[in-house]
Amino acid sequence: MATPTPLSLVDADASLFTEGERALFSDLFAAGQGHLVSSWAPPGQDDDGKRRLAKQLTRLDETTPGGLVGYVKRAKVLLEASRHGENALEGYTPEVPPGSVLNCRSEEFVELEEAGTVEAGKATFVLVAGGLGERLGYSGIKLALPSESARGTCFLKLYAEHILALQARSGWVDVERGYATFVIMTSDDTHDKTRELLVENDYFGLQPTSIALLKQDKVPCLADNRASLALSSDDRYQVQTKPHGHGDVHALLHGSGLVKKWVVHGIKWVCFFQDTNALVFRAIPASLAISDRMGFAVNSLAVPRKAKEAIGAICKLKKGDETMTLNVEYNQLDPLLRSTVSPEGDVDDPQTGMSPYPGNINQLILSVEDYYEQLEATKGHVPEFVNPKYKDATKTSFKSPTRLECMMQDYPRTIPATHKVGFTLLEVWVAYSPVKNSPAEAMAKAAAGNPSHSATTGELDIYRANCNVLRHLGAKIEDPEEQTFNGIEVEVHPRIVWSPSFACTIQEVSKKVDCEDLRVSQGSTLVLEGEGISIRGLTLRGALVIRAVSGAKVTVKGLEVENGGWEWVPLVYGEEASEEEKMRGFTVVKHATRVIEFDSPGEYTIES
Ligand code: UTP
Repeated sequence: MATPTPLSLVDADASLFTEGERALFSDLFAAGQGHLVSSWAPPGQDDDGKRRLAKQLTRLDETTPGGLVGYVKRAKVLLEASRHGENALEGYTPEVPPGSVLNCRSEEFVELEEAGTVEAGKATFVLVAGGLGERLGYSGIKLALPSESARGTCFLKLYAEHILALQARSGWVDVERGYATFVIMTSDDTHDKTRELLVENDYFGLQPTSIALLKQDKVPCLADNRASLALSSDDRYQVQTKPHGHGDVHALLHGSGLVKKWVVHGIKWVCFFQDTNALVFRAIPASLAISDRMGFAVNSLAVPRKAKEAIGAICKLKKGDETMTLNVEYNQLDPLLRSTVSPEGDVDDPQTGMSPYPGNINQLILSVEDYYEQLEATKGHVPEFVNPKYKDATKTSFKSPTRLECMMQDYPRTIPATHKVGFTLLEVWVAYSPVKNSPAEAMAKAAAGNPSHSATTGELDIYRANCNVLRHLGAKIEDPEEQTFNGIEVEVHPRIVWSPSFACTIQEVSKKVDCEDLRVSQGSTLVLEGEGISIRGLTLRGALVIRAVSGAKVTVKGLEVENGGWEWVPLVYGEEASEEEKMRGFTVVKHATRVIEFDSPGEYTIES
């Protein structure tokens, strides 16, 4: 008896499927996906399973860029190229792109921050937060993780506070406008929890209508080099799916129609950022000003990069008349340099001791007008890639199913060479300290001499940044102490934090704090929450918390505070602690605190 064709198997159960479902099966079989039905139970059995598969395929066809057949076709090409070890950058010659190197202790930085604060009134913000955070291993969503322990503000609250504060500085009033100015990309893994976090906290003070959640969908997994859609190992009526990557944000924004509204309402900039970098908003004002001055269609925020450091590099690539400026992954950079302009590969510039190619931190500022035009042309699709883990050198089978992925930072690949693409280089301490790795991974990274990007460093780097700013402005802040948390040696600066409403820029800090008359001891903690606080003389040896509601003007004058303070105590292995404390490797013991709190508007002076 002849083997039944895949379509005849579907037709044998014809009553289960709509015409559209049958047509999709037919198209998929023509694209080599007959295996999807080859192990089906005989006609009349497992009806629910067969229907379930048809519905899932229909949904995937709708949500996968280019539909399922388009996806399979692209996958075949990319898998073939991967099998042959083809280099996507073959024939390109790298150069250092145009950009601005900022010293945030300079007058120029202060001027840029001021100009950028005005630009922030013409900006919208996009947070990509659909990632699973497997490396971190936190049970909640990463946005709910406290950014530090002194204020205890979670990442999402911190970002909302920064947006509100920046908008307030630029004269923007957060009212109902008919379009969102803060977009959060979520996924099935993060959507409900993100929405709950917002709702439970009254949207952290933002107008609910100024926030839009756009949920990304997963894409089908691929079982082999022929791009066969991978069926689940324990359910023959289900295709396995995995995240497509943060590059989805562009297609989702296009589909939402928001970018068009932004253009119509005169929004000039859109700032993209990630879920756990508490420092990013310190870099945004100055970088917005750079975008404006340089006329950048794309401005990538960057930090100095040591040669061979495991961080993407921003490069301008040329091939004949073709030019593009983009992120080149570190493992592609060295071979590219060796085969073109630098036989010794990815090496540091002897003068600066750093790679000439800046390190990409994946925070982007795009010109909305150019972005809109580009999205109309591309529907927001960015080039995909595939990264199968092969079983062996023959590259004939995979260890586990793979999928196509795309990255937010590959957007510049799609834009015309006439658009100006550049970068803003900031010192690491100002701009970048993401929380990505579990304690074990973080310890291994630190041991290998790399940044650990852990919950420990994410918190301590906030204190370092604040202390650095105050020291630069002339305050006497004692030097940090070396401590070890979760096996990572870190510098612990005095724990000084302020809300974005208190200050968004260095200049604001200098206006609100008389730094010549500020002394803080190493073990101290200072928390400032509120727009109207100013410090005109303070000596602190202990813990001081000042909170003032909007409209309360609180002046601290010649105040001396000395108490037992708060202590960041390392956790002992196996000690009872919360999940967050275990991730950081310490617990905060509050011995004594001076709290100064004003919950009604008025003018207050604190002298003793
Ligand atoms: P990460 O590199 O931190 O990846 O993503 P991840 O998926 O969150 O974490 P791991 O790799 O599982 O440990 C960088 C940013 O992109 C977002 C993340 O939420 C983070 O802000 N992201 C990542 C998405 O929005 N969608 C994705 O599919 C992947």
